[in-house]
Amino acid sequence: MKGIVFVKFNEFIEELWGDEFWDTLLDEADLPSEGIYTSVGTYDDQELFTLIQLVVEKKNISSKDAQFAFGKWVFKELYNVAPAGAHDFKDVFEFLHAVQDFIHVEVKKLNPDALLPEFEFLSETANTLSFNYLSPRKLCFFCEGIVHGLAEHTGQQITVSQLECEHEGDNRCVIEVVKI
Ligand code: HEM
Repeated sequence: MKGIVFVKFNEFIEELWGDEFWDTLLDEADLPSEGIYTSVGTYDDQELFTLIQLVVEKKNISSKDAQFAFGKWVFKELYNVAPAGAHDFKDVFEFLHAVQDFIHVEVKKLNPDALLPEFEFLSETANTLSFNYLSPRKLCFFCEGIVHGLAEHTGQQITVSQLECEHEGDNRCVIEVVKI
């Protein structure tokens, strides 16, 4: 996973619980990178999962809630570094299509080692959009959080839920976004 995700996770944790808590996590995680992350680097996905698991244990929250909160928080950070042209989309549904058709594509061109999810759009009406989130990293709760961060950014009211979820025993993750 790209370093920006780790750098932002570090900032997120420090903003919530302070730099001493981050240091405690690093001490206990004993990571190959030692937690010295740079935006341009690439690190083992497992390091993020180890850090999230430690937060889960120490703060007594679920992994789902931790990933969701980080996703919601990180949207604006991704937006700030998004490729030119990504800032033209003003609607959540339009933006989600743009992520699949253009934004993640550009991210991949700029960082060939980036590992990005695929979205397979399944149905869409004026108010409801559903898509299959495909990623071997299984970060669907992180994805739900990012969609909430996106709606905060566009100023739209939405609900996000999963009609199917691999973590609930289904074969895939289907995320449904409803404008309310
Ligand atoms: C604001 C524009 C966006 C930019 C610049 C961006 C960029 C990125 C980058 C750099 C990564 C890390 C890739 C890696 O670690 O190798 C990433 C991962 C990810 N992005 Fe985006 N992204 C954007 C918007 C979104 C939106 C709106 C969603 C939600 C629908 C989304 C869903 C995800 C997910 C779930 C991952 C984690 C990797 C995975 O699930 O396999 N992104 N994105």
